[in-house]
Amino acid sequence: MKLDCKGANMVKRNPTAFLKEEYQKIQAEGREWVHRKLETPSETQVVVDGQELLMLCSNNYLNLSNHPHLRKRAIEAVEKYGAGSGSVRAIAGNMAIHEEWERKHADFKEQEASIVWMSGFIANEGAIPPLVRRDDFIISDQLNHGSIIDGVRLTKTVRTIYDHVDMGSLEDRLREADAADPNGEKRILVITDGVFSMDGDMSPLDEIQKLSEEYGAMIFVDDAHGDGVLGRDKKGKGIVDHFGLQGKVQVEMNTYSKAMGVVGGAIVGSQDLVNFLRNTGRSYLLSGSQPPGVAGAAIGSLELLDPKSELFIPVVEKLLDNCNYFKNEIVNIGFNHPITSASAECPTAIVPIICGENEVATKMSSRLMEEGIFALPIMFPMVPRGTARIRVMMNAGLTKDDLNLALGTFEKLGKELKIF
Ligand SMILES: Cc1ncc(COP(=O)(O)O)c(C=O)c1O
Repeated sequence: MKLDCKGANMVKRNPTAFLKEEYQKIQAEGREWVHRKLETPSETQVVVDGQELLMLCSNNYLNLSNHPHLRKRAIEAVEKYGAGSGSVRAIAGNMAIHEEWERKHADFKEQEASIVWMSGFIANEGAIPPLVRRDDFIISDQLNHGSIIDGVRLTKTVRTIYDHVDMGSLEDRLREADAADPNGEKRILVITDGVFSMDGDMSPLDEIQKLSEEYGAMIFVDDAHGDGVLGRDKKGKGIVDHFGLQGKVQVEMNTYSKAMGVVGGAIVGSQDLVNFLRNTGRSYLLSGSQPPGVAGAAIGSLELLDPKSELFIPVVEKLLDNCNYFKNEIVNIGFNHPITSASAECPTAIVPIICGENEVATKMSSRLMEEGIFALPIMFPMVPRGTARIRVMMNAGLTKDDLNLALGTFEKLGKELKIF
């Protein structure tokens, strides 16, 4: 121990020792996110750490991220506007291409207006806090995404959780909020994922909407995994369209990092909502705007999904066919866990293949890799104990041969690891 200038004892402190210690603990407990290196574009056939693999774990559901039209639009935008935007939107970084993106996004979603953020995560973090004040209420599904949890944490409001997709539990929370606000002066915000990323199950948005309307609550739905996948007539407009709820779900968050094949978040809804968020969303106001190349590519993906455009391609239909075939077959070959079976009935692109204990899922993933398939395990504590799984993400670019190859390998390894 040393003495400071006033003669008091000073503790000897190592300000960074925790970095190595905690990292080593993460490694020792098998919790390290080992990053694999992609040496090719994100496509259905990839090279990962030098090995050719069939990609089954990207969110590139519509196989658009390396599509020639998106590449072309990105290059054109860079040539016209440069590599960066130079500022935040509200100061000097609002380019014509950002406004075009927002207009086309709102049109695609059949809504009045939209506002683009750097990512879906940042949109959730930035858009949730201004919607509620200190004494209002947030009621959030138990399994909502971490970015929603962080957005909710940034508020000072009263926060409650309802049991996952349980409408009785949601109504209990709504009743409690209602009872605590006899004059109806407070805001109630109900937040849910549209599609939950661990099980691929859908939120019952139609029932949430009815209950919320009854109690005068506002709904915020994060459609990160429904966008480009769900919707009527295979148009991929998302969960709000799936239930025909345009105009009745007040706030919808979308991301361009998944089915749309690029990156970026968007909030879509009324013009009032967008005007309000442009002036109150801190992560919008205080962060540089999207590089033009990203905006160009994002517009490119919207053009491909527009049935009125000569560029239209039926990728959503292809994705849904693949989902349907793969989900049915995976259950037929013996992976017949309730979660897997339930997902066979809902048209999302996430297929949890339940293996059981963590070690079995880890083994399955490494054996899949040896057999030429890239699919990663999701384990306890991210999912309940005993439901460790390989989470397959379906892709419109996979051919029947690819799917049959994957199914044959899962069948062989399921038997080898004694899963069924
Ligand atoms: C449900 C959900 N919401 C939000 C996000 C964040 O989206 P982004 O990748 O655009 O930041 C994700 C990404 O994993 C997600 O799964």
